Amino acid sequence: MTPSVIEITSLDDPRLADYAHLTDVALKKARGTEHGLYIAESLLVLQRALSAGHEPRSVLALGASVGGAIAALGDRDVPVFSGPGELLEELTGYVLHRGLIAAMHRPALPTVSALLEGASRVVILENVADPTNVGAIFRSVGAIGADAVLVTPRCSDPFYRRSIRVSMGTVLQVPWTRLGDWASTRALLTASGFHLAALALTPDAVSLREFAATAPQRVALVLGAEGEGLTEEAIAAADSVVRIPMAHGIDSLNVAATAAVAMYALA
Ligand SMILES: C[S@@+](CC[C@H](N)C(=O)[O-])C[C@H]1O[C@@H](n2cnc3c(N)ncnc32)[C@H](O)[C@@H]1O
Repeated sequence: MTPSVIEITSLDDPRLADYAHLTDVALKKARGTEHGLYIAESLLVLQRALSAGHEPRSVLALGASVGGAIAALGDRDVPVFSGPGELLEELTGYVLHRGLIAAMHRPALPTVSALLEGASRVVILENVADPTNVGAIFRSVGAIGADAVLVTPRCSDPFYRRSIRVSMGTVLQVPWTRLGDWASTRALLTASGFHLAALALTPDAVSLREFAATAPQRVALVLGAEGEGLTEEAIAAADSVVRIPMAHGIDSLNVAATAAVAMYALA
């Protein structure tokens, strides 16, 4: 089997519905899927998604990008829709600057225990709401080399389009999953021998430099929301509270910058 190229001349084909102005939330509930869909934008991100074992439902490509899509898809029997730029723009509501987009099946998320097994550095995002920050953190995790990301139920979804784009597709490479409440999370971390370090600006926090000098073997770094910071529950669950000293009277760092600095210090 190989991909089939379908030239579209109208927007009536129901298989094009995945591209018709759908929000990230609607894609998560897409019909005919087990776990919903996400959108991969660009050939590079499609390649990363395929390497991660994710399966495409279809691809939408401008003429010059059809060849790249077909090569990436290999022997998968997946429709590649192509057509005039204006028609594709009418369908999606925007210009396909990156040449193609693909509707990808969301994979089943792994269990927390599976991700903790064999890991020594993990990052926990508590209620981080901005997909740009989530994507930037995944990019740093991938680049600096932490093993996994765990996100709380109220954290923005790493498979949202903006996160995937900002992360350059690393959200598709770095293992991640969703957590339950703090009590169950704490129990799982303890069972796996993890030290939970809360990144926060409390007066009694130890400096990151001091913490890194004698860092435990297995560390979970927890980072908080952009406005409120970490919840009291997260701080109470932590083994250590760690701060990056600030200069010039500046009160805090952006959460993605904090993640990069802390991971590097502990790498
Ligand atoms: C923009 S900050 C939130 C600031 C919030 N007003 C507070 O007091 O925590 C977002 C997250 O980044 C992390 N963070 C930012 N600056 C930090 C610093 N200097 N030391 C430790 N963590 C920091 C914390 O995890 C925080 O929850």
